[in-house]
Amino acid sequence: MSVIKVAILGFGTVGEGVYQTIQSHGEELERVLGSKVEVAAVLIRNKQKKRNIDEEVLITSDFNEILHLPQLDVVIEAIVDKEPPYTFLKQAIQRGCHIITANKEMFAHHGKELLELADSHNVSVGYEATVAGGIPVIQTLRQLLNVNRVSLIQGILNGTSNFILTEMRKRKQSFADALSLAQKKGYAEADPTNDVEGFDAFFKTMILSRIAFGEEPNWQDVEREGITTITSNLIDAAEKFGLRFKHVASITKAGNQIRATVKPVLVGKTHPFYHIEGVENAVNVQSDIVGSITLQGPGAGMFPTASAVIEDLVYVCQHQPSNKNFTKTTAGNYGEEIGQVKELWLIKGLPKNNKNPLITWVAQATDEIAIIKAAREEVEKVMNQQEEAYYFQIIDGYKIERKYEEITLAAL
Ligand SMILES: NC(=O)c1ccc[n+]([C@@H]2O[C@H](COP(=O)([O-])OP(=O)(O)OC[C@H]3O[C@@H](n4cnc5c(N)ncnc54)[C@H](OP(=O)(O)O)[C@@H]3O)[C@@H](O)[C@H]2O)c1
Repeated sequence: MSVIKVAILGFGTVGEGVYQTIQSHGEELERVLGSKVEVAAVLIRNKQKKRNIDEEVLITSDFNEILHLPQLDVVIEAIVDKEPPYTFLKQAIQRGCHIITANKEMFAHHGKELLELADSHNVSVGYEATVAGGIPVIQTLRQLLNVNRVSLIQGILNGTSNFILTEMRKRKQSFADALSLAQKKGYAEADPTNDVEGFDAFFKTMILSRIAFGEEPNWQDVEREGITTITSNLIDAAEKFGLRFKHVASITKAGNQIRATVKPVLVGKTHPFYHIEGVENAVNVQSDIVGSITLQGPGAGMFPTASAVIEDLVYVCQHQPSNKNFTKTTAGNYGEEIGQVKELWLIKGLPKNNKNPLITWVAQATDEIAIIKAAREEVEKVMNQQEEAYYFQIIDGYKIERKYEEITLAAL
C-alpha cells in the first residue's frame, strides 16, 4: 500500500485540528484515496511548547528540514501572516508537492502567483479553508457550478462581526461590550481590527471573486467598511422596520468590471441572511440555471476548519488542476448604471426638512433615523454634506408595512 506523506506548517487551532482529523479519519482517507495518509512533519515556532504529536513525527522550527525529507507529497499551511508562509509554499511547489492553505491574508495577496506556479509544476492548490471556514463554498463554486453562470455572490464571511451584531441586537449591548464578550469567548483577537474593520472579510471576498469570476476588482476600488459605526440606536431603529444589520460581502460582474463591496447592510425577513446569527457564516450564490442557493455553517474553529482542509487533501491528492474551470458569469444585477438605480437606505442624520426632490422619504423611525429611497450617487452626495451622518443600504427583503405609507417630503 502506498503512503501519502504530509507536512503541517503551524500547530495552532487549525494545524492541531488537521493533525487530529488525519488520525481520527485515517480509514476514510485510505478508502477514498487508496493510500494511507501519514503526517511526516510539523513546523512550529516555539520548540519548548508541549504538543500532543506522535514520536515518529518530525517536529521542527526549520522548514528546510521538512523540504529535504525523502518523501513529501502535500504541504498544509496553517500559520499566520504573509511571510514566511508564501516563501514556504513556493518552495514546496518547486519541490513538487501539492499545497493546501488556510491563510486568507497570504492567499489574497499571493494566491495568483501560487496557482500559476503550481500549474507550471503540475501540482494542485487547496484553499477551501481560506473562505468561510467549514462551509464548502470554493468546492461548490469550482465543481458544482461548472455550467451555471454566476451573477452575484453575497456572503457573511466574518463570524466575529456577525457575533457582535447579533449580541448587540439580542442583548441590547453596546459595541464595546459585545466585542469584549467576543474576545472572552475566543472569537475575537486582542487586536480585533482585522475583523471589525472588514479586512478579514475583504481578503476572503477577493479570493471568492477569483474563483467565481476568474479575476479580482482593483483592491482600491472596493468599498470596505467595518461594523464600528453601528450603534444600538441604529439596530433598534432597524428592528422597528423588521430589518437586521449584517456585515455582507457582495461581488458581481457588470459588463467587464467586477464590483465588490464589503460593508454593513440591512436585510429583511425574506433575505437568506436574516436568520444567520452568532459566529455562523453564509454564502449566497445566484446563477442562471439553479437560481439562488445559500450555504450556511461554521465559519471558523478547530474542526470546521480542519474539515475544509481534509476535503482539500482529498481534492489535491486526486490531483485536480489548480487554476482551471472558473465558473462562467452573466452580466451582474446592477447593470452599468450602478449608482443611479433607486435603492432603499436606512439613514441617520439627514434633517427632515431636506428638500432634495431626488430623495423620497419612505418611513421615519426616530427624529434622526429614517428610510429613504434614492440613487446611491445622490445619497452619497447629500449625506457627505452632513456633519455626522450614516447611511446603510437595504439589500433585500424590505416591504413597506402599511402603517408606514410611502410619504414624500412635501407631505412631511
Ligand atoms: N482559527 C480559525 O478558526 C481559522 C479559520 C480559518 C482560517 N484560519 C487561518 O489559519 C491560519 C492559522 O490560524 P490558527 O488560528 O491556527 O493560528 P494560531 O492558533 O495562532 O497558530 C499558529 C501556528 O503557527 C505557528 N507559527 C506562527 N508563525 C510561524 C513561523 N514563522 N514559523 C513556524 N511556525 C509558525 C505557531 O507556532 P507556535 O505554536 O510555536 O507558536 C502556531 O503553532 C491563519 O492564517 C488563520 O487566518 C484560522
